[in-house]
Amino acid sequence: MKKSLLMIVSLIVVLSFLLAACGGGKSDGPVVGNAENGKKLYDAATLGTNSAAGCASCHNFDAAAGKDDKAPYTQGTATRAETRVPGMSAEEYIKESILNPNAYVVENYKEGDMYQTWNKELSEQQIADLVAYLLTEK
Ligand code: HEC
Repeated sequence: MKKSLLMIVSLIVVLSFLLAACGGGKSDGPVVGNAENGKKLYDAATLGTNSAAGCASCHNFDAAAGKDDKAPYTQGTATRAETRVPGMSAEEYIKESILNPNAYVVENYKEGDMYQTWNKELSEQQIADLVAYLLTEK
C-alpha cells in the first residue's frame, strides 16, 4: 500500500518535470531577425514555399548593378524607409512593404508590381531576417 503510493508520487514528480522541460524549450518571445541570414534570403535565386523568383531578381543593388526599372534599388532602402510614411519607423515600413506591398506604392511603380504573396510564403523568422538585413542598407 505504502509502496504504491510512493510510486504514484514519484510518477507525478517525473511527469511534472517532463512537462516543465517541454514548456521551457518553447520560446514565446518576439522573433529576432538576423541580418546575415536575411542577406542570404534576399540574394537567393528563389524564395518561399512557392519557390518564387527572389528579391534580388527585381531589386538591383545599385545603378552599377543595373537599372531600377523593375524595383527600387536595394542600396538606401533603410534611409528611404525612415521617411516614406510619416509616423512609421524604417523597420515598420520595410516589414509592411514585404507583407502588404500595396499599402504604400513607391512613385514610378504600379500597385501589384511588387510580389504580392510573401506574407503567405515566408515564415515569421524569414521576414524578420529580411527586415534586419534591409535595415543595414542605408
Ligand atoms: C516581382 C518583382 C519584385 C520582387 C520579386 C520583390 N520586389 Fe520588392 N518591390 C518591387 C517593386 C516594383 C516595388 C515598388 C512598388 C511598391 O512600393 O510596391 C518594391 C518595393 C519594395 C520595398 C520598398 C522599397 C522602397 O524604396 O520604399 C521593399 C522594402 C521591398 N520591395 C522588399 C522586397 C523583398 C524583401 C523582397 C523579397 C522577399 C522583394 N521586395 C521582392 C518589386 C519586387
